[in-house]
Amino acid sequence: MTQNLKIAVLVGSLRKASITRRLAEAAMKLSQGGFAYKIVEIGALPLYNQDLEDGGAPPAWTEFRDAIRGVDGVLFFTPEYNRSVPAALKNALDVGSRAPGKSVWYGKPAAIISVSPGALGGFGANHHLRQSLVFLNMPAMAQPEAYVGHAANLVADDFSIPVEVSRNFIAAFIAAYEAWVTTLVPAKG
Ligand code: FNR
Repeated sequence: MTQNLKIAVLVGSLRKASITRRLAEAAMKLSQGGFAYKIVEIGALPLYNQDLEDGGAPPAWTEFRDAIRGVDGVLFFTPEYNRSVPAALKNALDVGSRAPGKSVWYGKPAAIISVSPGALGGFGANHHLRQSLVFLNMPAMAQPEAYVGHAANLVADDFSIPVEVSRNFIAAFIAAYEAWVTTLVPAKG
């Protein structure tokens, strides 16, 4: 088994009762083992403005960049806002991508689970995010895809997923991501 690969979990919703965050919490519990998942918060990052880099970046940016620099992969959970990703998530991508040549995203294997209470499961957000990942040189797992629709009541208060078919789907997604990351990240001794 791969040893203790670190995976940053980014959640595109900032609200406390977020169904996306709840699914992220539930999915982390379905790990096959050998992986350390941690939600890296994005809500306190000042909006990207290159002027703020002058004389030292905001501490929240530096902390965020350091957190992502230290992980082996990134797992995105995102709701869909107007058929795209929420601004907070795009801002996090932008913050991590600068300065030129110092992007913290470069080469880190990613996967995306988009989430919606609606029927389409955030397809638009999922694919807009994939577009950014291409430019950031983050290989994004192609299959399985995860567009989780009708997600409002998917996760119970204990962060379990009571409906078996849904639980199995998320577990299979996490297993596929872990197997795939293992092929891309050099083994740790
Ligand atoms: C939404 N919502 C939404 N849903 C969707 O399926 N496609 C969309 O394009 C949008 N657009 C959108 C824009 C904005 C600004 C908001 C606030 C919401 C609804 C969205 O899926 C719903 O609010 C989810 O509950 C948001 O996810 P969290 O916060 O529960 O994780």
